[in-house]
Amino acid sequence: MAELLSTSPGDIERAGRALREGLLVAFPTETVYGLGAKATDTHALARVFEAKRRPTFDPLIVHIAEVDALATVADLSQLAADRRELVQRLISALWPGPLTLILPKQPSIPDLATSGLSTAAVRLPAHPVAQALIRAAGVPVAAPSANPFGYLSPTRAEHVLKQLGDRVDFIIDGGRCSVGVESTVLDMSGDTISILRPGGLPRERIEAIIGPVHQIDRSTAHPTAPGQLPSHYAPRASLSLFPLGEIPLQGWSDSEPLACLFFDEASRSRWLSAYSRLHTGTDSAGSPLPESRVLSPSGSLLEAAANLFDVLHELDALGVARILAERVPDRDLGPAINDRLYKARGEAKGRTGHSST
Ligand code: TXA
Ligand code: MG
Repeated sequence: MAELLSTSPGDIERAGRALREGLLVAFPTETVYGLGAKATDTHALARVFEAKRRPTFDPLIVHIAEVDALATVADLSQLAADRRELVQRLISALWPGPLTLILPKQPSIPDLATSGLSTAAVRLPAHPVAQALIRAAGVPVAAPSANPFGYLSPTRAEHVLKQLGDRVDFIIDGGRCSVGVESTVLDMSGDTISILRPGGLPRERIEAIIGPVHQIDRSTAHPTAPGQLPSHYAPRASLSLFPLGEIPLQGWSDSEPLACLFFDEASRSRWLSAYSRLHTGTDSAGSPLPESRVLSPSGSLLEAAANLFDVLHELDALGVARILAERVPDRDLGPAINDRLYKARGEAKGRTGHSST
């Protein structure tokens, strides 16, 4: 079983040493918890894929603690000068933070980390514990989200303990993650600059610095663009997704434990009053209202993102069989939240142990 560590300097030093020696350490970042391994150690990397039951064709993000370390992972000289300039601008404006850049890789980064691609994903997390750990390790740290492949990402140490506790060596408990959705993955290596995964850094923030970027359309994307695998972030419950304000009031089986997931309190109360109106009279015993949760009472997309995985973990723990969720507004962090909800939809039902997708 994993040993839980605190964020004390002594514990971080110990975790850093463990990483250097090839052990696996789960750690907090501002987005979600990562499952860390020394990026240049193929044995440690193999254990990461094994622990997550992740297919080796899905590459990992390499984390660094300062901009100077970028050269140990990426080779910017392979980029045209004007593209290099855009990379520099993004880095000075948006790192550290929830932005992962796809760049030509250095030969020292093993194929296993990048799934044989000639590019590497690099990120400088803003979380002080993540930075301190990577510094203590003294090496770049490859880290996917610390969840079994295809399942919800962890935003608390307890999520990691529950899901992967028997497969990692240490878990640093740094409390709740503040952003709550994974980093935005931006491909700077190809002819067009593309967002491969919407995430914790809104597209608008990127475009304010380098102008328009392309956004991969999730409905047409296929797995040649890594990160676009169809079933991801899925809860055990089967989730149905509806436009904002359009969760249906009837039409599901009464025997199925159900929960509704709303964007804000206004949306929940509208739905609940319509539900009560509809069901009054038809059931004099007064059938109980379905479980419901709100991502952000006041309708803040920041708060909704921070609560998303937490709420889904909670509903799964309650043993709810079906979740009816509404989309959130498609601006700022909205696309990242909607992407996770979209990928959590019910088709994934029937998976056993969430390990095969
Ligand atoms: O916020 C985050 O990004 C978290 C924390 C721990 O940093 N990490 C994370 O890692 O979400 P993971 O492995 O769950 O997602 C990494 C994504 C995957 O969608 C992967 O396909 C994509 O990055 N990726 C990695 N290397 C790539 C590459 N060379 N080209 C294109 N996509 C890549
Ligand atoms: Mg992940």
